[in-house]
Amino acid sequence: MTLQDFFKNNPTPISGLIASFANGSIKISESVRNAATLSLTGSLDEVNVQGEIVQKLDDFSNRVMMDACHNEPSVAGYLSEENEGITSIHESGEYVIAVDPLDGSSNIDVAAPIGTIFAVWKRKSKSGAVDESDFLQKGTDCVGAGFMLYGSSTLFLFSTGEGVRLFSYNTASGQYELVKDNLLLPEKGKIYSINQGSMSKFEDATTQFVNYCTAIEKADSRPYSLRYIGSMVGDMYRTFVKGGVFLYPATKGDKKGKLRLLYECIPMSYLAEKAGGKGIDGANRILDLQPVSLHERSAIIIGSLELVNKYQEIYNS
Ligand code: AHG
Ligand code: MN
Ligand code: MN
Repeated sequence: MTLQDFFKNNPTPISGLIASFANGSIKISESVRNAATLSLTGSLDEVNVQGEIVQKLDDFSNRVMMDACHNEPSVAGYLSEENEGITSIHESGEYVIAVDPLDGSSNIDVAAPIGTIFAVWKRKSKSGAVDESDFLQKGTDCVGAGFMLYGSSTLFLFSTGEGVRLFSYNTASGQYELVKDNLLLPEKGKIYSINQGSMSKFEDATTQFVNYCTAIEKADSRPYSLRYIGSMVGDMYRTFVKGGVFLYPATKGDKKGKLRLLYECIPMSYLAEKAGGKGIDGANRILDLQPVSLHERSAIIIGSLELVNKYQEIYNS
């Protein structure tokens, strides 16, 4: 079943928006796969609001996702990792979007999995140009979220409030085709995913949790395996499929970790919870956090319920 047919059978208020993002993601996927021949590898000599050098594909993906919003009348406003401020799109639109147009940029030049992440809220203002308060909303008020993975295949995983849908791009038909209409994140797992190179900077709870994962305890299949791609989309898709836990925790020098709340932590936690998993920042549920600035960061521990609960038990002890 194609995405169009799926939405014919399961209409939602944001079907048009999701379909427009799907079309955009196919353009991004094709450019990722031809990046070298399209001279889209490498960077621009620009630094974005994150203080990171902008990769050519970051910029290209951002433009594609903005076009996708301009092509969808229901979109009122756009926030991107690549743009300092918010952008008004259609003043009569009802929804605002927070996007990481290309996640995992450090992996572009090494042909490792990268992707696009987005979250959707209903605007709080009635109409006209959007303002920041339309975007600074909790994950509990999200009306949809998703990510595309440009990996060995091009996948699209999203939820509009019910279950998590998984589609795979069929290069022969040029369509996303349904793989699962209710993807569940395994409650248990044997994989932990963290940049262990930062071990000396971790706070105690994280160090204790990594020691728990690496201890020999045959009864519950420990030591677990470490898998770390360096793209949240890649590490999270593996977690949805195989179970496990992904951590980008606070460090002694950086209480908020690296990942951005509005367009990385909230969409992934929204999807994880819709699939039976969990996302926390240590003490708190990610979806309960009240964002106070557009590009604010948050620590995140996310994945199988049993493993995230184990981390939280250590954190609270
Ligand atoms: P982005 O490319 O959008 O900036 O995101 C990269 C993020 C995330 O995808 C990944 O989990 C994390 O950076 C990896 O960070 P480290 O290289 O510090 O481990
Ligand atoms: Mn990212
Ligand atoms: Mn990015």
